[in-house]
Amino acid sequence: MAVFVVIFGVVLGVCLCSTALLRWNEMRYRKKGLPPGTMGWPVFGETTEFLKQGPGFMKNQRTRYGSCFKSHILGCPTIVSMDPEVNRYILMNESKGFVPGYPQSMLDILGKCNIAAVHGSTHRHMRGALLALVSPSMIREQLLPKIDEFMRSHLSKWDDKVIDIQEKTNEMALLSSLKQIAGIESGSMSQAFVPEFFKLVVGTLSLPINLPSTNYHRGFEARKNIVSMLRQLIEKRKGSQETPNDMLSLLMNGEGNRYKLTDEEIIDQIITILYSGYETVSTTSMMAIKYLHDHPRVLEELRKEHLTIRERKRPDDPINWDDYKSMRFTRAVIYETSRLATIVNGVLRKTTQEMELNGECPGFVIPKGWRIYVYTREINYDPCLYPEPLTFNPWRWLDKSLDTQNYFIFGGGTRQCPGKELGIAEISTFLHYFVTRYRWEEVGGDKLMKFPRVEAPNGLHIRVSSY
Ligand code: HEM
Repeated sequence: MAVFVVIFGVVLGVCLCSTALLRWNEMRYRKKGLPPGTMGWPVFGETTEFLKQGPGFMKNQRTRYGSCFKSHILGCPTIVSMDPEVNRYILMNESKGFVPGYPQSMLDILGKCNIAAVHGSTHRHMRGALLALVSPSMIREQLLPKIDEFMRSHLSKWDDKVIDIQEKTNEMALLSSLKQIAGIESGSMSQAFVPEFFKLVVGTLSLPINLPSTNYHRGFEARKNIVSMLRQLIEKRKGSQETPNDMLSLLMNGEGNRYKLTDEEIIDQIITILYSGYETVSTTSMMAIKYLHDHPRVLEELRKEHLTIRERKRPDDPINWDDYKSMRFTRAVIYETSRLATIVNGVLRKTTQEMELNGECPGFVIPKGWRIYVYTREINYDPCLYPEPLTFNPWRWLDKSLDTQNYFIFGGGTRQCPGKELGIAEISTFLHYFVTRYRWEEVGGDKLMKFPRVEAPNGLHIRVSSY
């Protein structure tokens, strides 16, 4: 009996303390004008529920509180907006007081001149310098030939092998960028660079705790090594008479370029390009292979498009701009893959002053310094925009009546992805060589995670044979 009373007392005590803590935390954030919602536990907020339940958590909260609600996730009080009108307003109006709100570890490791760490005129300057490197004419004249050469070689000798397509698309995205940026081919420099880059990526997604065994610390060390390698490359270029035809030369050539950058800015710009184009391009490519495998009719149509291109060429002729522009169905496959897999769940912003929201959430006030999660995932599955939203149907993108103004897979407004066309060109060239050279089947048994990132935790293994 005594034992029972003690246990009952402990349980009651824990319950009362928990309720008091939760209530106290709610009171702290109770402010006139804030959207409804719950703030969870002190410090941790609702991060565990968010990461565990993923999109389910977001949908539940929306059902309870509407399209704009408050929460406390990933270490910060946050307003989640799932309202298309509010989302568009936030993306289009950075100058009114919305700066990027990415986690501290990301900003620390990517560098203080990284595009996500700057705003106002500095952002315009860094973005201008970047857009000059990835413009359609640059893709046509300089980048596409390099991408083609890279893909031809990267996708050779896969027949009669079991490969992990996730590993291959990861390598593809990084090595292809290294070639475009500094002509770095698979060799000693890329061998030293690649593992450091992977550590850097993991570090940006970790908690900012700088202890020797943490991913954050390793990411930071990896940044130092990468900066040192890039600095050596810059110094070598300065002491050389040659001007290689690559992005680094363009960035260093201040006279011909109205966006002159310092060496430090050039290094952060290169890290930005590598980082921003890495996971997006590799994951979209992997998921396209997955969906094509599961939808033979789509694969047949895609292959037809690429075989038609090959028919008018000699075997060694590269893909040129006109070929790329003719890949209408391929582009539809890439859009549909990005939509259905939701490669990007949304983007993060932070308020620099108190802001009032309009749209479906009129009158709500966001305090200064709060994060806003412009959560665009659910729009991708809206049956009013995309009939039978869970079906992989690239043909929908060829229908002229499709309303794409809510398609935010490449973001929107002043931070809309400057690498969109380059990314699509890379994925299209990858698919070109893959479907014209090979057929494939899944080995089976691999798991795919959809949230918070799309990934195959143990790889996605396929058996490849020549077509
Ligand atoms: C399928 C491929 C890609 C997808 C889905 C994608 C998606 C996005 C999204 C959603 C944003 C907006 C972020 C925000 O508003 O905070 C963005 C920004 C950005 N992307 Fe991409 N991206 C892709 C490929 C690339 C590539 C290849 C590059 C390389 C140049 C690149 C460079 C950037 C940069 C630098 C930004 C920041 C722009 C700024 O803050 O002004 N992206 N991307």
